[in-house]
Amino acid sequence: VSVRLVETIGELRKLLQEARRRGQSIGLVPTMGALHAGHLKLMEEARKRDDIVVVTIFVNPTQFNQQEDFKNYPRPLSDDLKKCSDAGVDFVFAPSLEEMYPSPPLTMVAVAELTKHLCGPFRPGHFEGVATVVAKLFHIVQADRAYFGQKDAQQFAVIQRMARDLNIPIEIVPVETVREPDGLAFSSRNRRLTLEQRQAATVLFRALRLVEREIQRGVALVEAAKRPAVALIGAEPLARFEYLDVADPETLHPVANVTGPALIAGAIWIGDVRLIDNIRVSA
Ligand code: PAF
Repeated sequence: VSVRLVETIGELRKLLQEARRRGQSIGLVPTMGALHAGHLKLMEEARKRDDIVVVTIFVNPTQFNQQEDFKNYPRPLSDDLKKCSDAGVDFVFAPSLEEMYPSPPLTMVAVAELTKHLCGPFRPGHFEGVATVVAKLFHIVQADRAYFGQKDAQQFAVIQRMARDLNIPIEIVPVETVREPDGLAFSSRNRRLTLEQRQAATVLFRALRLVEREIQRGVALVEAAKRPAVALIGAEPLARFEYLDVADPETLHPVANVTGPALIAGAIWIGDVRLIDNIRVSA
């Protein structure tokens, strides 16, 4: 394994300071590990643009709504290191819980408005946890660019706005969602699905495509455009509907009528696994 595993903030800062002094640019790929094709795409994009690629692997407790989900989150570190090595990553920063949070944080970063809709109401505190840990990582790594997947469209918008509002000098690069041949978006949580559940999980992407089809065929009223898709999810016995919305891609506020580019986003539960996905559409 050629990638270097770094476990402390002090050591990482020292290594990156040296790189910066040599005039090398730094690309950051923040992850929670259990790396899949979506993450590999982030690394590939980082590798294209930056001289030094840093992948962080930290299962961040402050963004989980359920202790169980945090405990069950997969942590295959040696597999992950191998993947990073194969992808040409320079440093993997995998700090312990104590290293990242020596004591429970009294400072949290909250991004208003963008977290009001879509996943926000269903995951109270989640985006504060994400914005806080990402702000910490931005300050630790001081990268030139950071790469995030579009599957988490709301997370992307929140992080972009957080960096802007807090004057963190970093370019946030969006990277397209990577899908399985049947449309299911890669997610670390997919590996918790049984074979049967894995089949059922495709219903989310099919539902998003149905909304898109309705919009493209001229159904501007969102309530009507959503109807066949909501029925499709309802007809899948292994899936539980959480939400399906068409939102303004900038504000992430749901729209009642589609008049321009929009984000179709949804979440379902399969057993105790929550899956999200989204696609963009222009009316
Ligand atoms: O998208 C993720 O994996 C996480 O939310 C992130 C950005 C690494 C923060 O913990």
